[in-house]
Amino acid sequence: MSISYNESQLASIATSESLSLKIEEDPTKFRVLTGDRPTGPLHIGHYFGTLQNRVLLQDKGLDMFLVIADYQVITDRTTSSSLASTVYEVLADYLACGIDPSKTTIFTHSQIPELNQLLLPFLSLVSQAELERNPTVKEESSVSGALNALMLTYPVHQAADILFCKANVVPAGLDQLPHLQLTKTIAKRFNKAYGFTFPKPEALLSSTPVLLGTDGTKMSKSRNNAIAISATTNQTAQLIKKATTDAIKDIYYDPTNRPTVSNLILLASLCSNQSIEAVLADLENQGSQGLKNYLTDSINSYFAPIRAKRQAIVTDQAYLRQVLTQGNEKARSLAVDTLEQVHKNMSMQY
Ligand code: TRP
Repeated sequence: MSISYNESQLASIATSESLSLKIEEDPTKFRVLTGDRPTGPLHIGHYFGTLQNRVLLQDKGLDMFLVIADYQVITDRTTSSSLASTVYEVLADYLACGIDPSKTTIFTHSQIPELNQLLLPFLSLVSQAELERNPTVKEESSVSGALNALMLTYPVHQAADILFCKANVVPAGLDQLPHLQLTKTIAKRFNKAYGFTFPKPEALLSSTPVLLGTDGTKMSKSRNNAIAISATTNQTAQLIKKATTDAIKDIYYDPTNRPTVSNLILLASLCSNQSIEAVLADLENQGSQGLKNYLTDSINSYFAPIRAKRQAIVTDQAYLRQVLTQGNEKARSLAVDTLEQVHKNMSMQY
């Protein structure tokens, strides 16, 4: 299967490769910002797509910031009475997967007023047309038919997430490059207008293949095709049992022509720490039922220690609250400093 990239994607891939080398040379020079929208518990697509890599970066010694992007939830839905419990679910997922709050700062948008205030000067630096061109914004507007103004401006809000802490590394998939490009544009325009303030962040592209949901479409909680990290062994078995396969009896790996079966094989390979070939060798002469049994077992054994750790963590609400309070305090003190510098450079100190 060959994938074709456009020119700007190729440039980003090259930059990301040289960034990886620089990180290996001296990890302590780098600050990472990334995060998640708290719309539900995180799933194994998040785990293999980003969480695992975040833990690696953290353990290498990069300074990591994780935003639980609670203000971003209201770009496409209203908050519900359960938002706080969802935030704690995501936090428990992070900790269970190996994010260490003594190394990584975990915070929520809503508790960092100075971060959100950066939105005002940043909004003055981008045009409506630039925002309307953003692929995610475009897609949202065609899906929902209407666009609220927060959705339109959310790439600018993401720029505030990245720039408030002056992160220089943003782990990302190719689909997120346009957002990061806008962040760089904002940093450049701000520095030009008001004097050097923000370093330019670079994308660290992930090499993990994209996992699909159990129905072969994008893995997402709302499609009921995602296996939550926190799912029980039984829930996992039920979801895999219902997973879509195809009519071909043999099991072989061909992501282009057999996307659903190949996705299950890929997941089995990730969860059993084996190559695709080794999984296929294990499955010789077994049909899709054999593959499903094998996959269920490998997911459940891979996630057993993570799930056990998570269970212990969620019963300690005081601990979870303390982790978030401390993360918010640390993020806020940085945001205060950055906003002060912004005000100074904009001649807004009285
Ligand atoms: N948009 C991301 C998501 O949907 C979360 C996020 C918020 C983020 N701010 C960010 C990611 C800044 C990278 C950088 O999960």
